Amino acid sequence: MTALEPANIVIFGASGDLTHKKIMPALFNLFLDRLLPAHFQIIGLGRSDLTREEFTLQLHSGCAAHSRRPPKEKNWQDFIRHLSYRRFDYHSFADYDALANDLPFSSSKSGNTIFYLATPPTLFPVIAGQLAHFPSLRGNEHCRIVIEKPFGHDLASAHTLNVALAQTFSERQIFRIDHYLGKETVQNILAFRFANALWEPIWNRNFIDHVQITVAEPSGIGRRGNYYEQAGALRDMVQNHLLQLLCLIAMEPPTSFQPDEIRNKKLDVLTALKPLACGDAVRGQYAAGFSQGEAAVAYREEADTAPDSESETFAALRVWLDNWRWQGVPFYLRTGKRLPARVSEISLQFRPVPHHPFSGPPLPSNRLAIQIAPLEGILLRTQAKEPGPGMKIRPVEMHYTYQEMFNTPSPEAYETLLLDVLRGDPGLFMRADQVEAAWTFLDPLLHAWKKDGSPLTFYESGTWGPQEANALIRQDGRSWLLPACLEIHGQEGHCHAYD
Ligand code: BG6
Repeated sequence: MTALEPANIVIFGASGDLTHKKIMPALFNLFLDRLLPAHFQIIGLGRSDLTREEFTLQLHSGCAAHSRRPPKEKNWQDFIRHLSYRRFDYHSFADYDALANDLPFSSSKSGNTIFYLATPPTLFPVIAGQLAHFPSLRGNEHCRIVIEKPFGHDLASAHTLNVALAQTFSERQIFRIDHYLGKETVQNILAFRFANALWEPIWNRNFIDHVQITVAEPSGIGRRGNYYEQAGALRDMVQNHLLQLLCLIAMEPPTSFQPDEIRNKKLDVLTALKPLACGDAVRGQYAAGFSQGEAAVAYREEADTAPDSESETFAALRVWLDNWRWQGVPFYLRTGKRLPARVSEISLQFRPVPHHPFSGPPLPSNRLAIQIAPLEGILLRTQAKEPGPGMKIRPVEMHYTYQEMFNTPSPEAYETLLLDVLRGDPGLFMRADQVEAAWTFLDPLLHAWKKDGSPLTFYESGTWGPQEANALIRQDGRSWLLPACLEIHGQEGHCHAYD
């Protein structure tokens, strides 16, 4: 890898949770791996009035709790030498001006400048508007802006934000984060599909019956009541993470690994999505119950939520693609909080055998499970003859995990993404047209839900979501699959409401 140019990393929202839990641990691990440029400084900006010592102390506890390698005295001291903090009023031009005086946002002489917006989303347009006053940023690829999700809360707001950013930054300068794209297992989908000749001939409607994408979390919304009241699972998880997983599974083979080639192919998937029909989506909210053995309160009793809140903490969708490869193949997507386990998995269910020459019940179809988390690997389920007399058939698994195969810890998604920002590689980031295409698809559903076009349903905490989600898939004569990692590790006990 070529040496990285010196970098000034400016973090807006430096005293917030995201900085403590994700950004700083990622930068610290990159530092430990000697992947940061030889010369770099991190300038934290925040509304809190903190001294540098208070700031670094906060970061230390964040890294101690969230870094994959804990901070040790010597390397931590080496790292924080690069850190500073300043109190910042995001609305005050004078503060930006002072920053620009100390840190010219301009030429390659001072290296690259990264503006990382880790603030609440309402401040994204404010900061973009203020940065527009600095002509030296315009089209200057040494200056990059990183924006966290949610990117807008619907199509109109996402478009407005794109326009605001485009006043100053070209698309090559904008890095819109969807942290799922930085996960090793998510990137591996491209390797699995396009570095093996085996799959492409069967990766289509002729062989695949349907696809299921599950992203389940046992946790509730924690301290994010304010955010979740505005967002809900559709905006928080489906608009970005689940649709991006869908894109990687459904996209056509790229001709190269150029960032825009991959992103064009993913955009083709988003624009091929058929408008959702009424009845293709279920929204649910968790009621009280038990989560991983502990009593859990209902969403409406969590801090900062309304007692009559209509926000969904669960969403299930049946999605169709209007193209040659996937015509007639449903993609079932579901995600939720307070589900029985933490698991992100994509299952491709193949068509059944056309003829069953063996005695006994019909054989389950072949299944390919792409395991994104917490188990990281790939599992292929086929049928085998059981040893012994006669022809008794039963399912067996071919399985590899990252841990067994590579025996080296995977970097966190944020490490990969931050390194790509420093390298100026936008391949793993969302382009403006992708974000807008995803909103275009979901906007009608958001409007329908707002107008109460489909009633909110409820599910007990610690179960796999509302019965209506089971009914959705049952209409097609199918059922939700138990994630393969739960089968393998015999955790069916977590799945008491699974049917
Ligand atoms: C975030 C969502 O984008 O992704 C959270 O805002 C969610 O609500 C998280 O918990 C899940 O990420 P991961 O990497 O833990 O699957």
